[in-house]
Amino acid sequence: MTTSIIKKAVFPAAGFGTRFLPATKAIPKEMLPLVDKPLIQYGVEEAKASGLSEIIIVTGMGKTAIEDHFDTSFELEKLLQEKEKFELLKMIENVSGLVHFAYTRQKKPLGLGHAILITKNLINNEPFAVFLGDDIIDAKVPAMKQMIEVHDKYKSTVLAVQKVPKNQAHLYGVIKGKKVAPGVYKVLDLVEKPKNPPSNLAIIGRYILTPGIFPALEKTQPGSGGEIQLTDALKILISTQDIYAYEFEGSRYDAGDKLGFLKANVSLALKRPELRAEFKKFLKGLKL
Ligand code: G1P
Repeated sequence: MTTSIIKKAVFPAAGFGTRFLPATKAIPKEMLPLVDKPLIQYGVEEAKASGLSEIIIVTGMGKTAIEDHFDTSFELEKLLQEKEKFELLKMIENVSGLVHFAYTRQKKPLGLGHAILITKNLINNEPFAVFLGDDIIDAKVPAMKQMIEVHDKYKSTVLAVQKVPKNQAHLYGVIKGKKVAPGVYKVLDLVEKPKNPPSNLAIIGRYILTPGIFPALEKTQPGSGGEIQLTDALKILISTQDIYAYEFEGSRYDAGDKLGFLKANVSLALKRPELRAEFKKFLKGLKL
């Protein structure tokens, strides 16, 4: 377990999930299942496995299912106990006992940067992690744990990045960086959803931020999509603080996109010992 000073993780989860309508009309996007676990639980488990112990979830209207999911469920636990379904009981108890949760609400959909800004009073004056739950990262060493190691070495902001095809880069925040160590770049510039991407190094939804981000966010004007963008605040911050980017090791799925969501489901199901053989047979039989 890491001894890093980073203990808190922010999960912005206030978006409407319009890309998954109608599924997300009455349930939060974060609760859509990948195999049998809600999307957000993958990130929370990664946070825990990276040594983080405080999860701050930024929610909004219609998101109470997330709070219920991470709460204890007395009735369900009692029922499983009575029916002697001890394995299921343990699994359910594990979810609520994962870490400590706090919730705050983003009252207006003003963007990712704004969602981070409203956690200011919960963060105090310490570096913290941010997880975008849509980005599922399957890795031997949890991606955030890899980033914490980079943070502990450079004592600065660390952004997760991954090389993407150049024609996809306009869908992301993109950095221009100078390589300083294997997988580590000093960020020279960064831009959100660029028309002319400065490189193919796209920002993926894992960040370690310093408290310096808050004054930068306060100065940030609405950018791409009319929203307060975290990338724009980082661009302000770079004039006063070093920012590093880290090319993590692992497979990333954009589960916020229909195709990425399907790919994640198939890949993660194929990793499950209880599903693998039958599912593989089924996929092979599809004769595509
Ligand atoms: C957000 C960030 C973007 C980043 C992306 C990663 O964009 O603003 O910089 O590259 O997440 O998934 P969104 O996907 O919310 O449009």
